[in-house]
Amino acid sequence: MSKLRLAIIGAGAIGRAHTDLALRHPDWTVSAIADPSEEAASFATSRNLAWFGNYEEMFDAVPLDAAIIATPNDTHLEIGLACIARGIAMLVEKPIASTVEEAQALTSAADKAGIPLMVGHHRRHNPLLRKACDLINEGRLGRPVSATVMANFLKPDSYFEAAWRRLPGGGPILINLIHEIDLMRFLFGEIDRLQALRSNAARGFEVEDTAAVLIQFRNGALGTITLSDSATAPWSWDLTSGESPSYPRQDVNTHFFMGTDASLTLPRLELWRYRDSKGWHEPLTQERCAPHDGNPYMEQLRHFRSVIEGIEAPRSSGQDATRSLEATLAVQHAAQTSQSVALAV
Ligand SMILES: NC(=O)c1ccc[n+]([C@@H]2O[C@H](COP(=O)([O-])OP(=O)(O)OC[C@H]3O[C@@H](n4cnc5c(N)ncnc54)[C@H](O)[C@@H]3O)[C@@H](O)[C@H]2O)c1
Repeated sequence: MSKLRLAIIGAGAIGRAHTDLALRHPDWTVSAIADPSEEAASFATSRNLAWFGNYEEMFDAVPLDAAIIATPNDTHLEIGLACIARGIAMLVEKPIASTVEEAQALTSAADKAGIPLMVGHHRRHNPLLRKACDLINEGRLGRPVSATVMANFLKPDSYFEAAWRRLPGGGPILINLIHEIDLMRFLFGEIDRLQALRSNAARGFEVEDTAAVLIQFRNGALGTITLSDSATAPWSWDLTSGESPSYPRQDVNTHFFMGTDASLTLPRLELWRYRDSKGWHEPLTQERCAPHDGNPYMEQLRHFRSVIEGIEAPRSSGQDATRSLEATLAVQHAAQTSQSVALAV
């Protein structure tokens, strides 16, 4: 099977990780990097890759099948439209864009032109989440009742040296929460309405350091998320899922999905249910479902090729990612206004 030709646009933290994974991936050859920064140029040299300071120049010079757009959020629309104009399939990092309007513009331009578009909600490619999704879709939980998600971690003080991270928009609601919202939508379906509170009491910056969210799903289930970047705690996906070796792994559950027939924990994939008679006086049994290893970013690259070849539908389409963005922005709005926010149908 011949390899597809991939460009990395934006070789910052995640763009460099994508490059190194794609260099090892059997489906891809990395044809070039486009990023104006000096660090990106020297990274390209270190990997023996062609480098361009401008992505249009790269498009003129290098034949490509696909691009990963790993630039700041407010550039995703412009670069995505440039890929569409050149007929290049794209994996756009999350969030798909900065606003719902931009996200819709990109999605509909890609649809109209028939250009494959996927969004980098990488957790959807994690075998743990895929197993959880299968169990829920098979009806093993019965009717979804409630979900509790914990996203509590301690960002080191050095993280806040960049001034924008201390200002509104630079906090965990817009940076981290979208992953939890997308995960909850992936497992429990569309969100109808939400409420939120936020606090900056721990760090005292202008931006929030902590938030609590209440969610009403369309299927009638309710959910909660607690989120903090100022908590000394093991209870967050990054610290427990083993997705990235840069976080020492903790063996505790952080995500809990409850149904009328059973409940499921993540990342340990424990299924709790009654063996015979049901009711709180009866013994509950716990069964650990077979989690298997697998790098979600590598699986995302495999899936990306399959989407381009029309074999699989995107696990995170433009439309889907737009809804996760909309819900995340709604949390920000709900926290600002102390109002409950209904999402578009
Ligand atoms: N899925 C994930 O796990 C994950 C993790 C981190 C970041 N992200 C997302 O990836 C994107 C990038 O985040 P990051 O942390 O790597 O940021 P970063 O600041 O480390 O890197 C961004 C890079 O884009 C380059 N850039 C800026 N404008 C450009 C342009 N017009 N053309 C080409 N290059 C340009 C910058 O020079 C920089 O090197 C964001 O959308 C972020 O939300 C996703």
